[in-house]
Amino acid sequence: MDVISYKKEFPFTDTCIYLDNASNGPLPERSVEALHRAVQKGENPTLFGHEDVFDLPKSVRQLLSQLIGAKPEEIALTQSTGHGINIAANCLDLHKGEKVLLSEKEFPSNVYPWLNLRRKGIEVQFIPSKNGCFDIEAFRRAIDRRTKVLAISFVQFYNGFRNDLEILSEMCRENGIYFFVDGSQGVGAIEINVLKTPIDMLACCGSKWLLSPIGTGFMYISERLLPRIDPANVGWMSFLKEETTGIFEHLTDYDFHLPIDARKFEVGSPPCIHLSAFQKSLELILEIGVKSIQTHITGLLDYLIDFLHSRGYDILSSLEPQHRSTILSFTTQNMLSVHRKLREHKIFTSVREGGIRISPHFYNTSQDIDRLIEALQLIQ
Ligand SMILES: Cc1ncc(COP(=O)(O)O)c(C=O)c1O
Repeated sequence: MDVISYKKEFPFTDTCIYLDNASNGPLPERSVEALHRAVQKGENPTLFGHEDVFDLPKSVRQLLSQLIGAKPEEIALTQSTGHGINIAANCLDLHKGEKVLLSEKEFPSNVYPWLNLRRKGIEVQFIPSKNGCFDIEAFRRAIDRRTKVLAISFVQFYNGFRNDLEILSEMCRENGIYFFVDGSQGVGAIEINVLKTPIDMLACCGSKWLLSPIGTGFMYISERLLPRIDPANVGWMSFLKEETTGIFEHLTDYDFHLPIDARKFEVGSPPCIHLSAFQKSLELILEIGVKSIQTHITGLLDYLIDFLHSRGYDILSSLEPQHRSTILSFTTQNMLSVHRKLREHKIFTSVREGGIRISPHFYNTSQDIDRLIEALQLIQ
């Protein structure tokens, strides 16, 4: 991978070392340009056309399906992960007394929509983690005949623990449990294929590893599940035929036939400006390839791990290959002050759950890790 040429897409990295993609990924230049073009159309609606409202969302769904091995019909566009998780929580056929299982260390987006079901008498049970990692045996023990859903992150936000989706998927299938995945900390940086690893639903934001605007996201709903669930909210555009001309001369001929595809979960007009950038960022990620991205980031983190080990830092992330991700967390004395001082050196990381979280992307170089190492040596 030609990192240097891709680095040009992110001119802000000339003035800082950005290692915090798990918080917010930057927009590549090509996406920023697309945003400018889309805003011009907002300024002058005569430039705005069918392609913006229909072709653009269709193209984004298509790119997303390619990214995770799904079909475009299985993708609905959302505004955030939480938006997708609410869709899941509110459309599954859950009844009073039934149970949703969550890891005790989930990002809150994947907690509150499920807790919101408590008022319908649905129970939420938190599975205790083991050294900060999801404990499959504790999950196995928690399953009973009331268990209906497991909702888990692909990659845990604070220590980057990559859950074994294959094993979890199998256990869910064996026990007739819906398998829901929050993909936000993995999709775009780590390979995932819903065809090989069956998942019922996955929600993801665009603003981290997918390098897209805050306010973009998507939801995957498997074609096995789609015909069996209906949206709690509907919008007029989902009822339009795909081949609509956009002339809209008969809008009051109401016909309540929900589409069979995941578009039935989209409500109203699409966020065309955001999608213009989402499309370009997805094209870039697919152009490089998730496998290459993952390999590149793993190499950068390997280099950092060697240093951290040699200096006795406490690494909080699992180093077992199947549980590694593109996030690495470590701790040290005066962690908050180290984090602050790194920022003074213009090195951007984040602090989560007792660790300094490092999350490079494909545009980061080994020189960026050198700068981090030099700064840590200076600070400590
Ligand atoms: C695992 C995970 N899910 C979701 C989100 C973001 O949620 P939302 O898109 O609802 O803002 C984050 C953000 O840090 C996250 O780490």
